[in-house]
Amino acid sequence: MEAKTPEQSKTIMTDMVLPGETNPLNNLFGGELLARMDRAASISARRHSRRIVVTASVNHVAFNRAVPLGSVVSVEAKVSRAFKTSMEVFIDVWIEDRESGAKTKANEAIYTFVAVDETGKPVEVPEITPETQLEKERYDAALRRKQLSLVLAGKMRPNEATELKALFK
Ligand SMILES: CC(C)(COP(=O)(O)OP(=O)(O)OC[C@H]1O[C@@H](n2cnc3c(N)ncnc32)[C@H](O)[C@@H]1OP(=O)(O)O)[C@@H](O)C(=O)NCCC(=O)NCCS
Repeated sequence: MEAKTPEQSKTIMTDMVLPGETNPLNNLFGGELLARMDRAASISARRHSRRIVVTASVNHVAFNRAVPLGSVVSVEAKVSRAFKTSMEVFIDVWIEDRESGAKTKANEAIYTFVAVDETGKPVEVPEITPETQLEKERYDAALRRKQLSLVLAGKMRPNEATELKALFK
């Protein structure tokens, strides 16, 4: 399989925050944003693998800024690293200023998807070659995050998490 770049999986979903999607403070409900991020990330993983993909894990979510009612929100997803059958997808969330059009980063998240066949069995995905400085940084740190996620899920023993252990040396 030919290696791909993160840019080839780039997915941007832009939508407005409507009244039914807000909390009592009139800001976007966290679960609604999680769903939007899952959808964009899923399309991104599908573009990279050209297979059926399933969400295996939500590795990190930071709700740094509230997103007010009426905001125009862009959810931008890109595969940051591909392993054997799994892919890490980085999601950046931007709010667009109504008057200037300038975009401000509101939130970010990291999801893991697994490519599967029609029976749900994991299948291999193409490798990824990061190009920009940010893509390279995200690629380099992805193995550490994968190991942390597997340890927390009880799927890897902590003493096997070599990249994680290296952090504390
Ligand atoms: C995700 C799923 C396919 C993994 O199946 P599995 O039997 O654990 O398969 P494996 O152990 O071979 O793991 C497959 C890959 O997923 C990765 N993986 C599994 N669980 C993970 C986790 N919690 N965090 C990060 N990666 C994970 C493994 O490391 C492996 O990656 P690699 O092949 O790139 O090295 C399976 O658990 C599943 O179908 N889950 C339900 C998915 C779903 O329905 N999502 C929507 C929820 S509503």
